[in-house]
Amino acid sequence: MSNSEELPGGDEPMSTAAPEQRPKSTGLHKGEIAPGVAKVDPIIIADDIRRTFGGLTAVDVKHIEIPRNAITALIGPNGAGKTTLFNLLTGFDKPDAGKWTFEGHSLSGVPAFKVAQLGQVRTFQLTKALGLLTVLENMKLGAKGQRGERLLSSLFPALWRKQESEIEERAMVLLQKFKLAEKSEDFAASLSGGQRKLLEMARALMSEPTLVMLDEPMAGVNPALTQSLLDHILDLKDEGMTVLFVEHDMHMVRHIADWVIVMAEGKVVAEGPPDEVMKNQAVIDAYLGAHQDVDLGVVTGRIAGDIPEVGKYMADEVATLDGNIRSRSHKDSTPPEHPEKSS
Ligand SMILES: Nc1ncnc2c1ncn2[C@@H]1O[C@H](COP(=O)(O)OP(=O)(O)OP(=O)(O)O)[C@@H](O)[C@H]1O
Ligand SMILES: [Mg+2]
Repeated sequence: MSNSEELPGGDEPMSTAAPEQRPKSTGLHKGEIAPGVAKVDPIIIADDIRRTFGGLTAVDVKHIEIPRNAITALIGPNGAGKTTLFNLLTGFDKPDAGKWTFEGHSLSGVPAFKVAQLGQVRTFQLTKALGLLTVLENMKLGAKGQRGERLLSSLFPALWRKQESEIEERAMVLLQKFKLAEKSEDFAASLSGGQRKLLEMARALMSEPTLVMLDEPMAGVNPALTQSLLDHILDLKDEGMTVLFVEHDMHMVRHIADWVIVMAEGKVVAEGPPDEVMKNQAVIDAYLGAHQDVDLGVVTGRIAGDIPEVGKYMADEVATLDGNIRSRSHKDSTPPEHPEKSS
């Protein structure tokens, strides 16, 4: 996706001052770190989740726990099953097998709108803002439990008018925060791809959720806005929410995630604190699909064999990239160059 879109509302580009590092949440797991490790305070617990499409097993997760009030990144190459897992956990798709709970409630078979009412909201990899509604109208749709929608209370306009204005106020506060306030009366269709991503996230927050699931929140967002987007996500945690996000941008993952879960071929293949999981850059790079010709099993030592030349080159390349990222993130907030997603 292009990163060259215009900034919203004619705003000045963000400051390039080095981002303030906020404390990471630690001590999230119990026992030895391994795929499926138990969490001290899980908000989601899922078991034996399987989803197949014809002969293809898109998701086959044995056990997964998402830690509460922390930021968890879900990473993995294209086609690993990340979006499918999001769809299943949020009721947008049904698994062939498996069960899971959110805040202790079983969510198996619970439809998406109900899941959202319970406080678990998500955004989409491809944005779903409604183009023929204005930005503000999109925001209002995100609010839950609107009185005007219920028959009895709709007979008392005073009640819902008051609520309507409260909702509008909250929407404008969020739009302000996401630098979209000046666009509130514009059709969502007129926004750039990155602005639509911001609108989707702002809209998700209208329902005052407990768990926010973001599918590639950075994709297509102007680099000048990425720092503020990171700050918004960190704010969610500070406000007591839990965040689970899918992302290919390793700079972002390193910077804000408290915990990282790696998926490949539908399975959870690794998890842990970002520094631990991402220690082996060559493996991570392979998981991210930059060099899918290298057999991961060989790189990780799971399968006997020599690491091919490209694998060695990959390790050097990534070490350099990693060095660049570190020196840059000290200097300014410019995101690193990273391989574009292949899809
Ligand atoms: N509705 C569908 N019908 C058939 N196959 C599907 C469907 N949805 C997903 N798949 C397949 O399931 C696998 C997992 O897809 P998914 O979109 O979950 O991957 P992903 O990890 O989100 O990838 P990306 O990083 O590219 O977004 C892929 O092989 C994909 O082609
Ligand atoms: Mg996806």
